Amino acid sequence: MTTHIDAIIFDLDGVITDTAEYHYLAWKKLGEEIGIPFDREFNETLKGVSRMDSLERILEHGGRQNDFTPVQKEALASKKNDHYVQLIQTITEKDVLPGVENFLKQIKEAGIKIAMASSSKNALFVTEKLGLMTYFDHIVDAATVVRSKPDPEVFLKAAKAVDAAPANCIGVEDAAAGVCAINDAEMFAVGIGDRSVLGHARMILQSTKELNLETFLNEYAKKD
Ligand code: BG6
Ligand code: MG
Repeated sequence: MTTHIDAIIFDLDGVITDTAEYHYLAWKKLGEEIGIPFDREFNETLKGVSRMDSLERILEHGGRQNDFTPVQKEALASKKNDHYVQLIQTITEKDVLPGVENFLKQIKEAGIKIAMASSSKNALFVTEKLGLMTYFDHIVDAATVVRSKPDPEVFLKAAKAVDAAPANCIGVEDAAAGVCAINDAEMFAVGIGDRSVLGHARMILQSTKELNLETFLNEYAKKD
């Protein structure tokens, strides 16, 4: 049984800050512009998924997957990003979700590495706006990843970058696809949010307010 933790690897959107809501609003706006309205339930299937894969899912949802050329799809994805970038301009340190910064401090003090595994190409911009760059030993964003979550690639890359063995890592996610990615990376998955969406995680917290290193260490110690 191993109770040693090399690294804790965080998703960004919806875990560190509430940008998951901004992604939703931006996709919803684009969806309405092209006549594909959708609700929050469908939006759960977009969480954690890359920009182009999200667009494909939306087009399929509206039965319009064959209506656009690759160039038109690029233009639609870029339009969504324009909506999103507009929404994140006003992000400040106040937008760090409650309990997150204190948790990052606890991890640092314990000598455990901190990494980020994000599907977003805007991850560095958002993390800078939040004033959290100094906590992260490494950030992997969508720019360097080939396969989007639920593929484990982004978590495995983050672990490697901080010299951590996947079996000794904990991943923290708010998305069903993200929990699948952590599980497939053979890491210990912590889900933040609704049990009905994140039931495949090893530990589920209702909100970031419950983030606490002692709780993590206790649950992790029981893992084998
Ligand atoms: C993920 C979000 O973090 O990033 C998704 O959960 C989003 O909702 C994805 O689509 C891609 O983000 P971006 O900023 O590269 O369009
Ligand atoms: Mg997320």
